[in-house]
Amino acid sequence: MQTFTQLSEMRAAAARWRASGTLAVVPTMGALHAGHLSLVEAAKARADRVVAWIFVNPKQFDNPEDLVNYPNHMAADTAKLAAAGVDALYAPALDQVYPEGFATKVSVTGLTDMLCGAHRPGHFDGVATVVTKIFTQTQADFAMFGEKDYQQLQVVKRLVTDLNLPIEIVPCATVREEDGLALSSRNERLAPKDRAIAPALNAAMRRAASRMQAGEAPGPVLARAVQEIEAAGYRSVEYLELRAADGLTLMPTLDRPARLFAAAHLGPVRLIDNIAVGPA
Ligand code: PAJ
Repeated sequence: MQTFTQLSEMRAAAARWRASGTLAVVPTMGALHAGHLSLVEAAKARADRVVAWIFVNPKQFDNPEDLVNYPNHMAADTAKLAAAGVDALYAPALDQVYPEGFATKVSVTGLTDMLCGAHRPGHFDGVATVVTKIFTQTQADFAMFGEKDYQQLQVVKRLVTDLNLPIEIVPCATVREEDGLALSSRNERLAPKDRAIAPALNAAMRRAASRMQAGEAPGPVLARAVQEIEAAGYRSVEYLELRAADGLTLMPTLDRPARLFAAAHLGPVRLIDNIAVGPA
C-alpha cells in the first residue's frame, strides 16, 4: 500500500491507474472500524484500484470541542487499510485541501435544512466542500458512502447531479454491533454504562417501525419511542422523524418508502441512526 500526503502524489497515481482501469475512493475521517472497512470491500468489488481518504475535515465540525476530541488512530488505520488490500492511503496535509487563502464553499440547499442540518449549522457546507475536493483530487470513478449517514448520502448525490461530477456514488448498508448499535467512531467515547444503554436507540426505532408498518399513525408512535429512548437513559432525543427515503420530506402517514431518522445524546456523545421503513 502506498501512502500519500501530497496532492501531486495522488494525482500521479490516479493518472497511472485510470489509464488502465477504474478507481474507487473511500472517503473517511479515520478511526476506522468495520463499517468503514465494509466500504473498502465494496470498493474492491467495484473498481480495479482503491484509494482510502483520511482527513479530519475542520470545516464540517460545528462544535470545536468535537473536533478536538475526534479520535486519531493513524497508525492503526494504516495497518487496517494495508490488511484490507487498498492500493493507497491518501491522508492529505491540511494545506493540500485548504491552501492559504481558500475562499470557496459548496452549499447544497433544501436537503440540508432538516435533521442534522438544522442542528449543526454549517456542517453540510463543510461536507459538500470537502467531498467536492475529494472527487476532484482523486479523480475516482466511484465513491463509497455509508447509509449510516443517510442525509449526507442524499446531499452528496444531489451535489454530484447538480455539478455534473463524473463519479458514481455507491451507497453501502449500515454495519451494526450484534446488539443493533450502529458502528461509529464516536462509540469509543461512550463510558461502559452508556455503552450498555446505547442499543436502546436502535431497538426503539425498530419497534416504532413495526408499529407504523402495522398501521399505527406515526405521530403517537414516534412520541412513545422518544419516551422509551429517554427512559432507557439517553439524556435527550434531538430528533426522531419519519421522512421520505427519497427527498427527505416529512411523512405524516406511511404511504411511501420511508426512513426513520434519529439523533440523541448519551453522556457526552451525540449518536445518530436511521432505518428503512416500508409502507404498511
Ligand atoms: P466518517 O464519519 O469517517 O465516515 C466515513 C464513511 O463511513 C461515511 O460514508 C459513513 O457513512 C461510513 N460509515 C460510518 N459508519 C458506518 C457504519 N456503521 N456502517 C456503514 N458505513 C459507515 O462521513 C464522514 O466520515 C465525512 O463526512 C466524510 C464523508 C469523509 C467527509 O469528510
